[in-house]
Amino acid sequence: MTSLADRALADLEGKLRPSGESGLDRLRIFRVPMVPEVRLYLAEDAVVWWARMEAEAGTVLTAPFWASAWPGGQAVARYVLDHPDTVAGRRVLDVASGSGLVAIAARLAGATAVTANDIDPYALAAITLNAKANGVVVAARHGDLLDGNGEAADVVLAGDVFYSQAIARRMWPFLSGAAARGARVLVGDPGRRHLPRDRLQIVADYQAAADASTEPQISQISVLQPR
Ligand SMILES: C[S@@+](CC[C@H](N)C(=O)[O-])C[C@H]1O[C@@H](n2cnc3c(N)ncnc32)[C@H](O)[C@@H]1O
Repeated sequence: MTSLADRALADLEGKLRPSGESGLDRLRIFRVPMVPEVRLYLAEDAVVWWARMEAEAGTVLTAPFWASAWPGGQAVARYVLDHPDTVAGRRVLDVASGSGLVAIAARLAGATAVTANDIDPYALAAITLNAKANGVVVAARHGDLLDGNGEAADVVLAGDVFYSQAIARRMWPFLSGAAARGARVLVGDPGRRHLPRDRLQIVADYQAAADASTEPQISQISVLQPR
C-alpha cells in the first residue's frame, strides 16, 4: 500500500475503536444482504459518514464509495460464491474494488491470489480491514490500472463500475482488453445508464434483496460478460 493508504488505514482503525456511541456518522460491521457469507465495515449512512470525514479533515474528500456494498458488487460476489469454478485456483483482479466485497468473495470461493484495486486510499484501508474481518488474504493495490489490460489476472471482476460516463469511457476498453488477452471478465450491474449493454451478454440475473441498497428502484441485478 502507499503511504496515503497507510494513513487512511490508521485513520479508519482509530475511528473503529469502540467508543460506546452509535450513530449515523459511524462505521459498523454488517452482513452483506445478498452475500451473508461476508461481513464488511460499512457506513450506517454513507452521506452522514462523508460529512463527518470532511468535517474532521477540514477539506473536501471524494465520496466514500467504499463505505457501501454496491448492488453490482453484491451480484458478482454472489455469482463467484455460487460458481466457485469461475475463480478457484485462479489469479483474480477485482478492479474498482471499493469495500473489497468482490475480492473477498473470490478468495472465499478458492482463488489462489486476489488483488483488489482502487484509486481511493480509504478504499484500500477498507479492503485491508474487511479482508481481515473475513479471515482472508487480499493484496490491496492502490492506483489506476485502467490504461492496461489487467496484467496477469486470469479473471477480472468488476462490480458496479458503470456509474458515470467518465469511468465507463475508460472501464470498457480496460475490460475488453482483458477479455481480448484471454482473461475471464465478469461485470455486475443493476442497469446503470452507462453500461455498454450491447457489448455484453447476461450470465446470471439476481433479484435485489429488499435491503440490498439505498436505491429502492433497483429490483434486478445482472452479471454479464463481454460478447
Ligand atoms: C460504485 S463503487 C463500486 C465498488 C465495489 N466494486 C462494489 O461493487 O461495492 C466504484 C469504485 O470505483 C473506484 N474507482 C473509480 N475510478 C477508478 C479507477 N480509475 N481505478 C480504480 N478504481 C476506481 C471508486 O473509488 C469506487 O471505490
